[in-house]
Amino acid sequence: MVQPQIDLLVYNIGCLITMQGNPGPRKGKEMSEVSCIEQGAVAIKDGKVFLAGREKDVRLQLAGMLIKEELDAENRLVTPGLIDPHTHLVHGGSRENELALKLKGVSYLEILAQGGGILSTVKATRQATEEELYQKARKSLDTMLLYGATTVEAKSGYGLTLDDELKQLRVARRLDETHPVDLVSTFMGAHAVPLEYKGRSSEFVQLVIEQMLPKVKEAGLAEFCDVFCEHGVFTVEESRRILSAAKEMGFGMKIHADEIEPMGGAELAGELGCISAEHLLAASDEGFEAMKKSGVIAVCLPATSFNLRLNTHARARKMIEMGVPVALSTDYNPGSSPTESLQLVMTLGCLNLGMTPEEVLTAMTINAAYAIGRGEQAGSLEPRKNADLVMYDAPNLAYLPYHFGINHVHTVIKKGRVVVSEGRLV
Ligand code: NIG
Ligand code: FE
Repeated sequence: MVQPQIDLLVYNIGCLITMQGNPGPRKGKEMSEVSCIEQGAVAIKDGKVFLAGREKDVRLQLAGMLIKEELDAENRLVTPGLIDPHTHLVHGGSRENELALKLKGVSYLEILAQGGGILSTVKATRQATEEELYQKARKSLDTMLLYGATTVEAKSGYGLTLDDELKQLRVARRLDETHPVDLVSTFMGAHAVPLEYKGRSSEFVQLVIEQMLPKVKEAGLAEFCDVFCEHGVFTVEESRRILSAAKEMGFGMKIHADEIEPMGGAELAGELGCISAEHLLAASDEGFEAMKKSGVIAVCLPATSFNLRLNTHARARKMIEMGVPVALSTDYNPGSSPTESLQLVMTLGCLNLGMTPEEVLTAMTINAAYAIGRGEQAGSLEPRKNADLVMYDAPNLAYLPYHFGINHVHTVIKKGRVVVSEGRLV
C-alpha cells in the first residue's frame, strides 16, 4: 500500500484564521464570527488544504503519514489568501494628469464627459499591443500577490470595440495561465460609450448585445458581464437590456451600481439576480432590500471613494445590519482607484466604512470568493479547498488595518506552493 503523504505542513502559526463555516456568503453577525486558533497548523496535499486547526490536533491526525516538507510560521498570523473581486487589471497608460484636475475640483464625471477619464484609458488601451498590456498587467498582478491577493477578478472595458475587448480578455486569460494568481474574467464592454458612438448610446448597446457578447461567449473568454450604470454612462434601462441578454447567453451578471448618483442600480441588481452589485455609495434602502431578497453580494470599494475625494461612503454598516453580504475590493484601475493594495482597503474599510477588522477579513476572503463564483474553491482554509494562504509579520488581525500604508505580508502560499517568501516573489 502506498503511504499517504502530506506535501507541506505549515506549523507554529501564532494566530490561524481559517474562516471555516457553513457554505455561502456570510451575512449580519456571521461577518464578525472570525476566530483565531492559537498555535495552529495547516497541512497541504496536492495543492489543497488537507487539514487546518490546532497544531496538536493536526499532528495527531497526521500520525503515520509522511510529511515531505515543513514550514515554521514563527508565531505569525495566517489567513486565507485574500481575494480581490473587482479590478480593471488590464489597461494601457496611466492618468496622473487627473490629479491636478481633481485638486481644482473637477469631478470624475465631468472629466469623463470632456472625453477624458475612462475614455483616455480606452485610447491608450487600443494603442497598446497585446504584449504591452500583458507585461503591464503582470507587474500589477505581482504587486497584488505581494500584498496578499491570491485570486483576482479582472474586467475588460477599455477596448470598447470587439477586437480591443477580446484583446484585453485574452491578456487576462494568458495571465491566468502563466501567473500564480487565479484570474476570473468579466466582460465589461458597457463601461463607457466610446467617442465614435457619442450621442448614439443605444446603437452602442446594440453592438454590445449583438456582436460583442456572443463573440466573447464563443471564445469562452469571460464568466461574467458587468455594466457601468451611471448618469451620463448607461441608464437603468440600457443596463437591464445588456445584463438580461448576457444572462440569456449564460453569463453571470455584475453591475457598477449607484456609485455617484442614485439611479436604481441596486434595485436592478436585485430584480435581475446579479451575483454582485458594486460601489453602492448612493444606493437606497429599497435597493439594499432588493439585493437582500435576491442574495446579491455588495462589493464595496472604499479606495475609490477615498481617491475620488467623495464625502460619502458606501453604507456598509447598514447593509450588514440588514443582512446583505458585504465584500471589499480595490477596484484597481488607472482612474478612480490606482492601487493594488487590499491592505490599504482593509484600513479604509475600517476607518471609512466603519467595519470591524473581522468583518473586513470576511469581506475580502469568503464573501469576495462568493462574489466571483469561487466560494467552493477559495476564501477559507478547509479540507479540499485550494491551499491559498497568507502569513503576515503581524501579531493579530487588528494590527493589519491599524498599521497602515505598508505591506505586512511575509509569505504567500498559492495552491500549496510558496510564491512569496520574506516579502519577495519566489
Ligand atoms: O469602478 N466606475 C467605473 N469604472 C471604474 C473606473 C474606471 C476608470 O476611471 O478608468 C470604477 O471606478
Ligand atoms: Fe470598477
